[in-house]
Amino acid sequence: MKREWPLTGRAEELELVTEAVATAGSTYGYIIAGAAGVGKTRLAREVLAVATSRGMTTRWVAATESARSVPLGAFHDIVGKFGPDPGMRVREAMSALTPHGDSVICVDDAHLLDDLSALVVHQLVLTKTVRVVLTIRSGMPAPDAVTAVWKDRLVERLDLQTLSVDETCTLIEAVLGGQLDSRTARGLWTLSCGNVLYVRQLVDEEVSARRLENVAGVWIWDGQPVISPRLNDLVDARMGRVTPRVLDVVDVLALCEPLDADVLIQVTSPGAVEEAETQGLIDLTAKAKHIRHVTLAHPLFGEIRRARCGALRKARICGHIATELATRPCVDMRDAVQRAILVLDSDIDPEATQLLHAARCAMQLLDLELAERLVRASVCAGAGVKAQTQWAITLTTLGRGSEAQQVLAELEGIGLPDADIATTSAVRAAIVLWMLGDPGFAQRILAAAAGNAKRSGAMGPHTAVRASLSAATGNPSSAIQAAKAALSKPLDDFHSAIATFALVISLGELGRIREMRAAADVILEIAQRSPEAAQLKFALGQFQSAALRTSGNLDDMLRCGERLWQHTVDTPGNLSALAAMLRGHTDLAFGRLTGAVRWLREARAEYAIERLHARAWRALNLAWLAQAYGKNGDGEAASAVVTELANVRPADFPYVDMDCALAEAWASAAEGALHDAISTAQCAADTARARGQLANEVLCLQTATQFGDISTAQRLAKLVNEVDGPRAVAASAHAAALKTADGPALLRAAHQYTSFGDRVAAADASAQAALRFAASGHRGTALSAHAATVRLAAECQCLHTPALRELEEPIIFTGRQREIVRLATQGLTNRDIAQRLVLSVRTVEGHLYRASQRAGVTNREDLVAILGGG
Ligand SMILES: Nc1ncnc2c1ncn2[C@@H]1O[C@H](COP(=O)(O)OP(=O)(O)OP(=O)(O)O)[C@@H](O)[C@H]1O
Ligand SMILES: [Mg+2]
Repeated sequence: MKREWPLTGRAEELELVTEAVATAGSTYGYIIAGAAGVGKTRLAREVLAVATSRGMTTRWVAATESARSVPLGAFHDIVGKFGPDPGMRVREAMSALTPHGDSVICVDDAHLLDDLSALVVHQLVLTKTVRVVLTIRSGMPAPDAVTAVWKDRLVERLDLQTLSVDETCTLIEAVLGGQLDSRTARGLWTLSCGNVLYVRQLVDEEVSARRLENVAGVWIWDGQPVISPRLNDLVDARMGRVTPRVLDVVDVLALCEPLDADVLIQVTSPGAVEEAETQGLIDLTAKAKHIRHVTLAHPLFGEIRRARCGALRKARICGHIATELATRPCVDMRDAVQRAILVLDSDIDPEATQLLHAARCAMQLLDLELAERLVRASVCAGAGVKAQTQWAITLTTLGRGSEAQQVLAELEGIGLPDADIATTSAVRAAIVLWMLGDPGFAQRILAAAAGNAKRSGAMGPHTAVRASLSAATGNPSSAIQAAKAALSKPLDDFHSAIATFALVISLGELGRIREMRAAADVILEIAQRSPEAAQLKFALGQFQSAALRTSGNLDDMLRCGERLWQHTVDTPGNLSALAAMLRGHTDLAFGRLTGAVRWLREARAEYAIERLHARAWRALNLAWLAQAYGKNGDGEAASAVVTELANVRPADFPYVDMDCALAEAWASAAEGALHDAISTAQCAADTARARGQLANEVLCLQTATQFGDISTAQRLAKLVNEVDGPRAVAASAHAAALKTADGPALLRAAHQYTSFGDRVAAADASAQAALRFAASGHRGTALSAHAATVRLAAECQCLHTPALRELEEPIIFTGRQREIVRLATQGLTNRDIAQRLVLSVRTVEGHLYRASQRAGVTNREDLVAILGGG
């Protein structure tokens, strides 16, 4: 990756400077100032390139530390040898630097100019004989003549800022040629503070060490940089010369950041801290009256110092800080976590209860990896059964379901009292169910421990997990019954949340949204106060969003997602994948297809890299991704994801059935196999009905209606009275209007969809309206409906559904003919088409023959060309 990186995020700055120095009547000069590596030289080079392309003469002069000791050193190769009179030499230099015509000269790193060269630059600016661009490093001493250039406002000054997260992400994506995972983008930005030079070093190094890798089409970084010697030197240079006592200050912060100023002073010395501040190595921020937080001025300072810190030194420093902190009150959860980690990293013996408490705090703060480290340490220090259970829950939150169930399985084997076995087996069954996606295994775990539960009288946890099992396996009514039974007696937080999940899922599927909301609030309240259940709000987010999407309460879905994903920023493991899924799902529901594809691809890659055992989530993620591709009209991508889905999808796990079926339906629709698409959606609707999942039935029937199925009206009309939410009402209106080919009613249905946010369905209903108007000869209304459809489709970003395709294509074929010709455009033979549509080859040939007659063509090539194939 040696080539020049494409200029990114500097459009405004480039325009500003080029307008000033490379256009007629300009101000003749600009100074570009900024921190090391921020991109000053690059910007100046780009300005010169524009000037050259505009026919101007350009010259590049680089001032350097070594040339500084020679008078006129920066210009020695331009002006050659001159006499001893300095005034004379300056004049000669100036005339050598002033060619005929318009010219621009750039002096890079002008702060390094010797005094005489600086005088030449000053004179060039004053006399306006040539346009000048200077770059200087801010904060560095510069010759007076250079400083005067901007202080006296002889030229404009631009203070170049570091790149934002989004700009950094765009830049890295351009360089790597693919999507960058959002957590990776933020990680690289945080570490580099948006400094392009550091970003470059980090990316080059991490890619060649294969720590920044392309996983399933998305570049993901493992977040643990190894500092290359080059980056090390660059950061060293930035830190400057540092005395040993100041290095102590930096090392303390590298190992424990942030730290209160007085603690830092206590473990180092007041003089050293002041010196570090003066050298710009640390930042102080006021936390409260008399309390100031100290952090390192750049995160890379910490990285390079940690890399150099030997184990003994690290243990000594951590022990020193821990001892100092132990003399002060522990104010909040962060303090508890920080202290426990210091103890672990030091030579002090850890205390099991302190570690377990800190682990619970870390869990509540969603610092999962720290939580896992702490809880594991507490188990090693002998914290007992509670700690083991906590460990399993933490591993689950990290997405490491197999390890979690293993920890609990071992625990059950060591002869615990009945009550403990009852609880741990229930936790284990819940993990096996939701993480490993294995309801059968979960059942067996519960059955094996049923005797223990009965003997101990602790039936609650088992009943809660049974409710969850019923919910996952498509039995909403029994799930609700079991959940209510479990919740009617006192229950621990974790299992209360598990039982309430069952309520949220099942009430959602039944379309009882008001009750579902109340249940969700209970979980949120539990999650607020309980570390074991803190992470469950993310799984809740998925269940709740699913219910809100199916019922059409999309604004609520958005609010629910926003509340959650801001907590998961930079959280590793399952949570960040869940957050990406949630964003993708929300975008999908609103028809923001580009965003949906991006987030869902990100979650897919996260799952792949983290090797998480969250099979149910992975399956849903892929199902939504296939739906998004299908709505984009990208049949190939949608089908590839459907195939991937078949390998990931847990068997006998009906909770994911509807979305998997809709994925297949949309993939078929995108491939042009509309009959397949409709029958898949209808089958899914029938399954949902058989299970009593009425809200799911609505969404499936709506989808079939979008594909042009005119048989859904009666069922949807009935469902309006059975389920809550605006979707059933809109879908029912849509189906009735399509059945009677009622254009105005189809437009009204489109408005209904728009009003709750389903823009894809709105576009489809609107397209169907335009087609009906055209068919009935209402050209004017057809055109305006067509225009409304185009607008809606544009809002959905590259929407390409069957209804839209039909609108774009000439109306010469019947539905079946169109379907067969469309499959032929994809290169399928008549035999392939016959197999695909379960028809005989003769029937396919017959349809193609009649289609050719209608279109007035005599060969297959011309026929497929009509639908954009061939
Ligand atoms: N906006 C940008 N887009 C793409 N690459 C950039 C951008 N800005 C800088 N770079 C690249 O980052 C690296 C460092 O930039 P540059 O040398 O311009 O920084 P500088 O501010 O001049 O640093 P110094 O203070 O060390 O002179 C170069 O490889 C440059 O091409
Ligand atoms: Mg430079």
